Amino acid sequence: MAKPPAEPLPQKSDIDACRRCELWERATQGVAGEGSRKARLMLVGEVPGDDEDRQGKPFVGPAGKLLRQLLGEAGIEPADFYLTNAVKHFSWEPRGKRRIHKTPTQRQMAACNEWLEREIGAVRPKVIVALGATALRAVTGTRVTIAAARASDLHHSAGARIFATYHPAAVLRAPDDDAKETLMRALIDDLKRAAALASRVE
Ligand code: URA
Repeated sequence: MAKPPAEPLPQKSDIDACRRCELWERATQGVAGEGSRKARLMLVGEVPGDDEDRQGKPFVGPAGKLLRQLLGEAGIEPADFYLTNAVKHFSWEPRGKRRIHKTPTQRQMAACNEWLEREIGAVRPKVIVALGATALRAVTGTRVTIAAARASDLHHSAGARIFATYHPAAVLRAPDDDAKETLMRALIDDLKRAAALASRVE
């Protein structure tokens, strides 16, 4: 049977104009997903950080740079993936002069889910990689743990296989170099596994 036509990809101007929750009020701009529309692999993070908010692009700060490095080490080319977040406006609280990341609330995530669903409908990935628990919750719509997701065969309603792994920020927060190295290796292995799966499923 022929595939139904892909939905249009939400544009940055759509995300900028979003008023579905209040996060836009304190953010500089919306941060839309980025990458190939033909990608078989979609990576979903949590929420843009301070650098992403200023630059209007996903995964350009420290965690994003690390993720891009690890994707390269896993042999995954930029043309092979689409990168986005569960929530599209920076969520933060002040600490002195700094803006510190704040995990989005359940209500903010639910409000933003329409954008993620539209991206999934437009890209139609074979595998969705949830980076961390918040992303996993957004992609599955349930409070499943990373460990439980890894032990089961989860699918998105659009058909994509859901693959859960660590958020790259977990590597940056690791208490010492050994822990950092272990997490980095695990993340690279997971990215390789997800890419291999994406290339073989129909
Ligand atoms: N962390 C995320 O989850 N997303 C980004 O875009 C940057 C950091």
